[in-house]
Amino acid sequence: MTDPLENPLLEDLRACVPGMNRRYLADFEISRISHRFTDVLIIGSGIAGLSSALSAAENRDLEVLVLAKGDLEESATRWAQGGIAAVVLPERTGDSLEAHIHDTIEVAAGLTDEENLRIMVSEGVDRVKGLIELGTGFDRRTDGGVQLTREGAHSFARILHRGDTTGQEITRSLVEAVLDRKNILCRPGTFAIDLLDREGTCIGALVSNETGELEAVWARQTILATGGAGRLYRETTNPSVATGDGLAMAFRAGAKLLDLEFIQFHPTTLYLAGADRFLITEAIRGEGGVLRTKSGEAFMERFHPLADLAPRDIVSRSILEIMKETGNNKVWLDLGAIAPERIRERFPRILELSRSFGIDILSQPIPVRPSAHYSIGGISTDSHGRTSVPGLLAAGEAACTRVHGANRLGSNSLLEGLVFGHRSGIEAARAAADITRPEPSQAVDPGGGSPAAEAAKNPGGDLDLADLLSSLKSLVWYKVGVERNGEDLSNALEQLSAWTAYPLAADFRDVESWTLQNMLQTSWLLTYCALRRRESRGVHFRADHPERDDVNFRRHMSISRADFST
Ligand code: FAD
Ligand code: SIN
Repeated sequence: MTDPLENPLLEDLRACVPGMNRRYLADFEISRISHRFTDVLIIGSGIAGLSSALSAAENRDLEVLVLAKGDLEESATRWAQGGIAAVVLPERTGDSLEAHIHDTIEVAAGLTDEENLRIMVSEGVDRVKGLIELGTGFDRRTDGGVQLTREGAHSFARILHRGDTTGQEITRSLVEAVLDRKNILCRPGTFAIDLLDREGTCIGALVSNETGELEAVWARQTILATGGAGRLYRETTNPSVATGDGLAMAFRAGAKLLDLEFIQFHPTTLYLAGADRFLITEAIRGEGGVLRTKSGEAFMERFHPLADLAPRDIVSRSILEIMKETGNNKVWLDLGAIAPERIRERFPRILELSRSFGIDILSQPIPVRPSAHYSIGGISTDSHGRTSVPGLLAAGEAACTRVHGANRLGSNSLLEGLVFGHRSGIEAARAAADITRPEPSQAVDPGGGSPAAEAAKNPGGDLDLADLLSSLKSLVWYKVGVERNGEDLSNALEQLSAWTAYPLAADFRDVESWTLQNMLQTSWLLTYCALRRRESRGVHFRADHPERDDVNFRRHMSISRADFST
């Protein structure tokens, strides 16, 4: 078999990307910046970061420090709508762990890690019950039992939710619990720039603290829980924090990244000029919402036997097909089959938000189209969250446990973050208790790649960063989007290589610029991985290779900084 990495075109491109093997974004002298020590450092305060913090803090002798670049509450987790999947009431619904595992495998297009999947589904039941014990208020039936709903490609009703603000409620209860723990410290407004390592072992992170000063945070164990990278795309459901920082940081620190090409697009995002691309939850279709053309045709029946509840990649591509066919830049989600009372009770935020844009969803359809939603690939981890770099763990959307394979079943990602966040916390506490504190007085491993001296010559002052950011997001949306092809991907990679050259070698001093550097680097890697996978599988659709190719590509594909130094 020819390994796609041997493709000479890619080799050439890889060779001509200055800055891709730069080790640290910021130029710093370790002896001149302030220092801080902790036992377990957690970067990220979504469901993965907060649940790992609670689990690590079970060891009362350890201090746990949680960093977030914005407010503690601002994360993809906070915006989750549909809910969290878990087989909590099999006796009532007829559901089973095996059915949940089966449904996940069915959509995952041949790449699920069954061992990790079994862990997620089986341990998930107790973890979700633990959330309820913490005080998470999921919706209840009149008899007091939790309400369960069904979403696309789930064979049973197994989604716990709180109206259409499930993530907000989960975040509230987790943040309260974390703030209540004496051995957990939280530092919102602290931006992690890079991981620090010594002799190849991660020993903490270089951060820009609340006052914008550089600071070294030394830790026995570090967990990256920085979420996904939806903000690389012009059209996305993701909040502003989802810029792929953790992927770029881990890459620079030498960690193995996996399956970056698998980006899940959500079929139904509010599409109104001037309005935020607000997610319209799949649960609306679970309750009876129907996608229609402008002339009223319920078109999904044409594309899949499950019609509106078909897997997301199929619904997203069908919508694009209809948009091409009809010449419209959107389709309409008709809620006519759902009782107004049910809409008010189940989808209050969507009702309110749509009204603020002049649409009354009780009587009018919602204009929607697909947008980037979830990063399936990420930092490669084992079932305890350990990455390929000793001392570094990862959990949640930033990680790749391989449970989703090449396509993710809805409402499985909160569950993944909860289960593997917990496991990472336990593992980090175990490992931290076994090792001594890193000594700040010793040196960290030197940079390599673009040396600091070169960066210093290149202060980056004359770049129009806003223009570059906007061009980047458009390029990634149009060329690395729902439908891809080799020519577009090659062109995008060439363009990204050109854009990356100067900013990645520059020495910036502010969070916005570091974020853009991360986005450039992550976009380059994502595009490269999408070009390398010359087949269609799950969410990765290549119009020039429309078939699945199990002989060459039924495998996870990794990339790491080491690939750039050969
Ligand atoms: P996040 O919740 O995104 O948290 C990331 C954290 O990392 C943030 O605290 C951020 O500040 C921090 N961070 C990032 N970079 C840095 C840095 N450089 N320095 C310091 N801190 C940093 N999944 C479901 O299962 N069910 C749903 O109903 C559902 N609905 C969704 C709706 C929307 C609109 C979106 C966007 C996603 C939805 N998902 C849903 C997906 C799910 O919400 C996410 O996959 C999951 O919440 C990710 O959790 P996380 O803890 O990994 O990351
Ligand atoms: C949704 O509510 O449709 C999103 C659910 C998910 O991404 O899992």
